[in-house]
Amino acid sequence: MDAVIAILPGDGIGPEVAAAGRQVLEAVAEQYGHCFTLTQHAIGGAAIDAFGDPLPAGTEAACIAADAVLLGAVGGPKWSDPNAKVRPEQGLLRLRAALGVYANLRPVKPHPQMVDAAPLKAERLAGVDLMFVRELTGGSYFGRKGRDAEGAFDECRYSEAEVERVTEVAAKIARQRQGRITQVDKANVLETSRLWRSTVSKHLAAKHPDINLQHQLVDSMAMHLLTQPASFDVILTENLFGDILTDEAAVLAGSIGLLPSASVGGERGGLYEPIHGSAPDIAGTGMANPYGTIASVAMLLRHGLDLSAEADTVEWAIDQCLSAGVGTCDVFGGKGVSTQQATAAVLAVLAGAARQRVAA
Ligand code: NAD
Ligand code: IPM
Ligand code: MN
Repeated sequence: MDAVIAILPGDGIGPEVAAAGRQVLEAVAEQYGHCFTLTQHAIGGAAIDAFGDPLPAGTEAACIAADAVLLGAVGGPKWSDPNAKVRPEQGLLRLRAALGVYANLRPVKPHPQMVDAAPLKAERLAGVDLMFVRELTGGSYFGRKGRDAEGAFDECRYSEAEVERVTEVAAKIARQRQGRITQVDKANVLETSRLWRSTVSKHLAAKHPDINLQHQLVDSMAMHLLTQPASFDVILTENLFGDILTDEAAVLAGSIGLLPSASVGGERGGLYEPIHGSAPDIAGTGMANPYGTIASVAMLLRHGLDLSAEADTVEWAIDQCLSAGVGTCDVFGGKGVSTQQATAAVLAVLAGAARQRVAA
């Protein structure tokens, strides 16, 4: 197939992991006979430095026109002055809004080999297979914000329609899994959470009565995620809670560097990015884990381009590497290899699989 994929490297380790993603896309194109046109654009701090804008018009237009977008990460200490007028993160938020990607899918399924990398007891990790569905274009991230004489405010608003459409995405995903949704909120305190609770219940009762729905308050959910992670299936929540809970869930997987995401719901193929940030503490050292970005490439192939066989192969290649004990030091400690070596290991597995397909 022909597809245009916009790559946005961003800041810190963003360019390092995006380069890994690009190599995997090139390999998949060659091995499966696709023609991917890979374009590259500035975002975040790099775009502030070059254009004075964290989402330059050219980047936005290219992403809107592309079949799918792959992003590394944005942000870093250079642009983190609390009084700064423009911030790298605004570029990412504006891009999510411009693409209309209101549903952010973040799967968390610890690889058996990662049990040692995770601080939790092995028995707690057995059977963990989660899919977070995080609302991505609403809530306090996008509400009115500002400062007044007394202080500052970030308004949190949700409409029923915003809650309904992301609930529908979660329901479709739950149908293909165990058919269970845990909706997470703070309904004992927040009015928006009470709207979430009633809207999700009403929508599922009307459209998906067979789905098992549980409600859970976010504070106790933060605990249950670590004490009984295997008891959940699909976790549906608002923007800010989803941001926080998925970094917490990264502990289950062994490293945040392993976790991918897909942001969907817009008109085109969506936005794909690892869930981690620009990791300024390790940027430039060659230590960044590229697997979260490569797994995001798999999600791009599956959800953005409808290439499920290719997506399965990329995910399987990462699994093979982890099983063989090949990965960066965030998961393998002193036995860890560099970003490029870990990427090369995935590419070697992909090349081997391609040779086998030709031989078969
Ligand atoms: P972070 O995710 O960048 O880093 C947290 C910790 O995880 C660090 O110790 C880091 O070294 C480690 N880590 C992250 N990714 C890794 C990888 N691939 N391999 C190995 N280790 C990895 O979070 P932070 O330090 O709170 O944020 C740094 C900057 O990143 C901030 O400016 C923040 O706004 C930004 N950020 C951007 C995104 C994004 O672009 N989607 C996401 C989160 C944070
Ligand atoms: C993420 C990040 C972003 C978010 C920031 C960088 C705006 O933390 O993708 O998880 O909060 O959504
Ligand atoms: Mn985050």
